[in-house]
Amino acid sequence: MSQPYHLKIDRSDLGGADIALIPGDPGRVPRLARRLDPDAVEIGNNREFRSFRARAGDCNVVVCSTGIGGPSAVIACEELAQLGVRTFLRVGTTGAIVRGISPGSVVIPTAAVRREGTSGHFLPADVPAVADAQLVHKLYATAMAKSIPAFLGPCCTSDTFYPGQERRDTYSGRLLPRFDGATDLLEACGILNYEMECAPVFAFAMQAGLRAAAVLGVVINRHETEHVGGSGHKAGEQAAIEVACSMLSGGGE
Ligand code: URA
Repeated sequence: MSQPYHLKIDRSDLGGADIALIPGDPGRVPRLARRLDPDAVEIGNNREFRSFRARAGDCNVVVCSTGIGGPSAVIACEELAQLGVRTFLRVGTTGAIVRGISPGSVVIPTAAVRREGTSGHFLPADVPAVADAQLVHKLYATAMAKSIPAFLGPCCTSDTFYPGQERRDTYSGRLLPRFDGATDLLEACGILNYEMECAPVFAFAMQAGLRAAAVLGVVINRHETEHVGGSGHKAGEQAAIEVACSMLSGGGE
């Protein structure tokens, strides 16, 4: 088979890897890969898709960035599936919308509100986007074993970082009526957090008969601020990396 168009890597580059860690940020790829395996190797770097192969226990895994948002995330998933990947683990960041979920903890989503367009290319509108239950359980057990505060529940995937997550400190300051008050409503419905890729990744895996889940490092709580940065960002990212890599290295069971 020829190289998939976007990732520009071969089946042989994966060395039989059937598990992929999929952060959004290309800069997080070497950090994740080297946390698993100091000798991890870069196998591809095209557009937003940076790829490393790493050893985890007895297996190879691939770490591949997706960029931001659904369209590029499902390009990565599709092409990784063509190369033999069967399990997708998103390692991302998130803004908590429920009080008491602090930066440095993780959210392990059980499902995702589909406030985006990409998942509708895979699932009918009335089918929920859900994570693989076994992976969710393993991630949670790993977080508990590492004493990393972890929250299980549904997240909200938004196509936009600003209006769709009800950010008000923007250039225009304008919000469509459907986003004005949306965060309080989601919180009242038991939704834990905002992020930008879970629903499409879960939808892709569901319709393909594959497995997907996510561990999301909390970088802000929206009751405190809408601005991401500083120590909260580092702590959230590090917590998600730790849970994902420990699970793959067998640290959670
Ligand atoms: N990622 C998001 O999508 N939203 C946040 O607030 C933080 C990270």
